[in-house]
This record gives sequence, C-alpha cells and structure tokens, in this order.
Amino acid sequence: MGFQVCVAILLCYATNLSETPRVLRRRIRPERKSDTMATITIEVETAAGQPRHAKLERWVEDVAQMCKPDRVHWCNGSKQEYESMLRLLVLTGTAIPLDPGKRPGSYLVRSDPADVARVEGQTFICSRTKEEAGPTNNWEDPARMKQKLAGLFSGCMTGRTMYVIPYSLGPIGSHISRIGVEITDSAYVVVSMHIMTRVGMHVLEVLGPEDEFVRGLHSVGAPLGPNQPDSTWACDGKNKWICHFPETREIWSYGSGYGGNALLAKKCHALRIGSVQARDEGWMAEHMLILKMINPSGQVKYMTGAFPSACGKTNLSMLVPTIPGWKVETIGDDIAWMKFGSDGRLYAINPEYGLFGVAPGTSMKSNTNAMLMVNRNSIFTNCASTLDGDVWWEGITDEKPAKLVDWLRRPWTPDSGRNAAHPNARFTALASQCPVIAPEWEDPKGVPIDAILFGGRRGGIVPLVTESFNWQHGTFLGATQSSETTAAITGKVGQLRRDPMAMLAFCGYHMGDYFGHWLKMGKRSGARLPKIFYVNWFRRDRNGKFLWPGFGENSRVLKWIFERCDGKVHAKETPIGRVPEVADLDTKGLDIPGSHVEELLSVDIDGWLEEVSRIREHFAKFGEHLPRDLSEETDSLEKRLRAAGK
Ligand code: OXD
Ligand code: MN
Repeated sequence: MGFQVCVAILLCYATNLSETPRVLRRRIRPERKSDTMATITIEVETAAGQPRHAKLERWVEDVAQMCKPDRVHWCNGSKQEYESMLRLLVLTGTAIPLDPGKRPGSYLVRSDPADVARVEGQTFICSRTKEEAGPTNNWEDPARMKQKLAGLFSGCMTGRTMYVIPYSLGPIGSHISRIGVEITDSAYVVVSMHIMTRVGMHVLEVLGPEDEFVRGLHSVGAPLGPNQPDSTWACDGKNKWICHFPETREIWSYGSGYGGNALLAKKCHALRIGSVQARDEGWMAEHMLILKMINPSGQVKYMTGAFPSACGKTNLSMLVPTIPGWKVETIGDDIAWMKFGSDGRLYAINPEYGLFGVAPGTSMKSNTNAMLMVNRNSIFTNCASTLDGDVWWEGITDEKPAKLVDWLRRPWTPDSGRNAAHPNARFTALASQCPVIAPEWEDPKGVPIDAILFGGRRGGIVPLVTESFNWQHGTFLGATQSSETTAAITGKVGQLRRDPMAMLAFCGYHMGDYFGHWLKMGKRSGARLPKIFYVNWFRRDRNGKFLWPGFGENSRVLKWIFERCDGKVHAKETPIGRVPEVADLDTKGLDIPGSHVEELLSVDIDGWLEEVSRIREHFAKFGEHLPRDLSEETDSLEKRLRAAGK
C-alpha cells in the first residue's frame, strides 16, 4: 500500500472516531520525525465525565514509551468504533465483507499461514520459581523473560496505532467479574475483543483507584518503517512469545495476531491468570461450558462441563434434545467462573461476551444453533470463500461446492486434494445472537450449578456416563481426565492424552496445587456442592464403530444426570462410580441395538486395572504436589476393582 492510500485510510478512520462521543484519545507528541525517536510525550484529552485511573494511565504511558506507536487510541466499545475498525481492516485488505444478502454485517479474515493457532510450545508461565509453574507449563524466570521481551517490544509498534482496550470479564459490576486492560497494535484484536468481552471506558467506572486489573500487552511484532506498506496479516511468524506473570497479573504476548495468542482476555486472562486469582481469592476459573436444562414440567438444572478440544463442547452447550419436552439453553461455551453464594451453592458466570468457535465440522446437523448464531454480524477467520460472497468450511454442507477460494486465497475445487478451510478456522459472534441463549445468561449473581461434567474421547473402557461417589472422587475423575487425540490437536491420531479438568494448557500454576484447590473448595464449610459426572460419547465397538449416536441424543444422558441430581432415577454402584443400568437411561425412540447400550454402560474390570497403572504414571508427574487424597483415591479404585474381579 502506498503512502497516499495510507494517509487516506487514517483520515477516514480519524473522522469516524471523532464522531464517537465517549472516546478518550491521547495524542503522542511530537509526531514521529525519525525512526529513532527517543522520547514521546503523551497529551491526555479526557472527555468530560470520563473515569480516570492514575495507575492505568501511568502504565499506558510506560508502554507507549517502550513500544513507540504513532498513535494511541483508547477504545470506547461503541458500535461506531467497531464499524470504523472493520472499515480499516477492509481498506488494508485484512478483511473482506461477505455478501450482505447472505450474511449481513459479516467479514472474512485470512491470516498468515505461519499464524493459525495457539502456540503451546511458546506459552510460558513466568512465576517466581519453576516449581510454582509445575511440570505441565513452560517456565522462565520473570525478570529474564521481561528483559528478553523488553528488547522485542522496544519500538515494536512504530508506524502503528496502539489501542487501549478496557474490558470486563463477566457482567459489569458482578462480584464474580474482573477487569482487564489489553493494549494491542492489531485492529483485528480490537474488533474481536468487542465481540468476546464487554469493552469500553464504562468498565473503568467499577474499578477503584487502588483496584487490581489484569494488564495484557500484545503486539503483532511487525513495526513499520516510514512509507512501508503493511501486510494483510502482520505477525512475526518465527518469534512468538505468550508469557504470563501470575504474581503481577500481567500478560505479554508478542508475534502472533491469532485467537488465544492475541485476544488476551480469553485463555490468557480468563484461565491462566484467572486460575491464579481464583486460587488466591477462593473461587474457581474453569475451562467449562455452562448449560441450562429444562424438563417438561419447567424445572431447571444448570450444568458446567470441561472437555478437551475436539470433543464437541460448543455443540453440547447449545444442544437440541431429541427427547420430547426437554430443552437446553446456553449460558457459555468455553469458560466458567464459579464462586460460592451465601446459600453454600456454587454460582457460575460466563466471563465472555461472544464465542470464538471452531468452524470445520459445524453444520445444521451438528449444531443448528451455532449456524443460526453466525448467520449475521460475524467474523470468520481462515474459512474458504464461495464465489458468491459467502464462507464455506469442511462439513458445513454434505456436498462440496464445485469452486471455492481456499483460506490461502488460492482457487480450489473438490479435486484439489486439500482442505479449503484451515482445520482451526473460526467464527466469532456475540453470545446474544445464539438462538437458545438463556435469558439469565448475564445475571450478575451467576447461576447455581447442580452438576459438573468431565469428559473426553475414549474408544474403550470409559462408560457413557459415570457419577462420582462424592466431590473428592469427582476431583479424581477430573484430575485423570483423558482424551484420544484427533488430527486437529496434535497431528497424531488416537494417542491418549491426559488433560486434567481440560486445563492442561490453561492452568497458570502447578497442576498438583490446582487439584489441591479443587479439594479445598469441596471442604468449605456449609458448601452445597454440585454432583460430578464423567461422560464419554466416543466409545467404539470391536470394529471401531461408534456405539453412541451423540449430538442431540446426548440429551438422554443429560436427562439421567438431571434426575440423579434429585435422586429420582436409579444408578448402579460399580468400582469406578455409579453407572445407569440399561433401564435407567431413557432410550425411547432411540434407534440403536440394546446390546450397544449394554456395552456403553459396562465396566471392563481388566481394562480398568490397566488404566490404574496409567493413572499412577500420570500422577507421578506431580511429585510432592499431588494431594494425598488423590493417591488414596487411586488406591481405593484399585482395591474396589480387585475385589470385583475376584
Ligand atoms: C479453544 C480451545 O480454542 O480450548 O477454546 O482450544
Ligand atoms: Mn476452549
């Protein structure tokens, strides 16, 4: 892009911003004169009545001094701001508008092939000591990491705008919500944060001058020289660092503009830093969906569920039950923050405001509600585009279109021999657009949780559903949670991966201590705890075929769980937990052989004895930090299995 085009974009952008009433802008002076500008001073222009927060302003100034952006823009979260950012993204070629007749208000963004997913290998927990980060996290000394990053961040925003995004995770003012501020040089991040969180200066109204807020600093790591044209997706493909400083509640992310690497409120704040805040303050930050189930007489139960990637978590959160008269509504699809209420119950909020879901595999058959949710005002990333201005991905239609443009902008036909959309292509849409969003999803009190589900993808031995004996045993089920990998996660198919509470990639401290935190929550006096269950939709027969149809039929299992919460349905005691007998599960109208249901609910004693050795291996990683309660649970399980096998 030439210099004149660049100026034109900035002028139109500035005009739009000046029309927005609540914008708080800071101007950097003097204008950049050379690439080696040593000092910049920042002049504050506050609109009347804007909340001031000295700590925040000081931090923004320090970051601007380090990153040397050309401009600083404080985000007000308005619709005009969202639209002007999208216009900017269209002008720079980053986004293309979709046909408004097909998908009004929607855009397609294509990233750089070197920047398509979270980078777990480059994600660090920089706690004071390696021991505090534990065996499941990459660790670096915080001072050393800051020094390294300061070198990278120095001048990294030259030629760019630095956006300051104050956001609330959770309904503003809820006692469970938390405030964060992300500084970024990516307009794509700004529009995504508008959808994923509650953004704007108004969130600062609930932040007292001494209150803590999480500081997220993000740069795509691609400074621009004078007159240097920008690329359509700026990033530093070879140098990505996603670093968390739990003690100081900071996140520094460099080099990637994609998803969880760049939208720092999501995995970085809501889970990694959030789990540390939760430990320190006595609540829970979990990688869980939240759903509401309603029975035919209008009774309601709320459930949360932790599932590793590729286990259908988003689908479950908005499932359409196949059993007549039952309904499911959505509260959240990815993250749950839970705190005890004065009645001893655990209340959950969805800290997010939108969904950032995996597109491939999503269809009217697998997830009708998600498809209806993204039929307007959505941002699609790394999907293929149709010749008539819409998006396409693998699985969305049974038949593949004759011609497409793939996510790498190349012509594509079904004979191309490659996917048209990237396997981690995403949709981003407001949760409020979900047709089955529960009316109370933004209730600042949260919703009282009746059941917690864990689950994974296991071809053998793990029954369709198991109820834990109690909270401690439920914590054991979560701590041993495992799934067989699919190509989308690791490139290797069918390997067993332990993913405790689905938090392997997201726990901001030693996972053994995190298990301890779960146990401690269960021992809280006066607690009226949710029941804990383990589900497995993926058990296969001898020929490798799935025994359970999944999707809407999973409502049959949720119904059993619902009724177990009130003790209204029978369960059989087994060595691994309580499991329904065939007659306990509502299979009316279900077109599968009874022998399949029997197999789905069977407990394979020998298979489980082998599993016990794998559990011991897994637990050994946590050394001294493994709570004794959990090694005792392993011993008791083995004892029960041996007794049953006699
Ligand atoms: C996600 C994940 O993207 O869990 O939500 O990987
Ligand atoms: Mn997730």
